[in-house]
Amino acid sequence: MIRNAQFVVSNTDPKKCPKPDRAEIAFIGRSNVGKSSLINMLTGVKELAKTSQKPGKTQLINHFMIDDRWYLVDLPGYGFAKVSKDTKDKWEKMISSYLTGRDNLCGVFVLIDSRLEPQKIDLEFLNWCGEEGVPFVVVFTKADKQSKTQTDKNVKAFLNKMEDIFGDIPDYFVTSAEKGSGKDEVLQFVDELISE
Ligand code: GTP
Ligand code: MG
Repeated sequence: MIRNAQFVVSNTDPKKCPKPDRAEIAFIGRSNVGKSSLINMLTGVKELAKTSQKPGKTQLINHFMIDDRWYLVDLPGYGFAKVSKDTKDKWEKMISSYLTGRDNLCGVFVLIDSRLEPQKIDLEFLNWCGEEGVPFVVVFTKADKQSKTQTDKNVKAFLNKMEDIFGDIPDYFVTSAEKGSGKDEVLQFVDELISE
């Protein structure tokens, strides 16, 4: 359980993030996949992270302090088509330098839309994480949006692709920010990561 969650600071410059004096977990994934919603669900604070039906809502590196113990980070989404190439390049640079340069980062939760078949952009991003040694787990989102059968089918197809790329299946969670499902499992895993 999270008892206290507080916004700390927003940045475009990874160098201006808070002093890396606590364990840190970041949330990333395609625009609109449900990063900010999942963060609100996990923390139990409804409007802690700003959400929107329109993709591209989160544009900064947002730090939240959790229980005075760890930092939770909400990142902008990748693969958002409706911004200029220039903006896209800037976001990508910001995100990649954050992910590869943040010393206290102990895990990156990569969110995948459980409604979709495996998407190239997600597989490419995960492949990049693997190459760069960024420690990740996979979180499937929006499981409430379709039948369990359909969710299971999409999850399985995605995990099969992961196995093709990496030779094994990563840790993963199936969640719904709407229903609160997967909350205990994800928080239990966070606890393990930050205690290491
Ligand atoms: P960006 O900041 O734009 O990259 O998006 P994001 O990944 O932070 O997504 P956000 O949390 O803003 O959610 C996008 C839309 O999906 C919003 O309309 C949410 O209400 C909806 N949504 C997110 N998670 C869920 C979920 O688990 N179930 C349902 N039904 N809707 C969800
Ligand atoms: Mg967001």
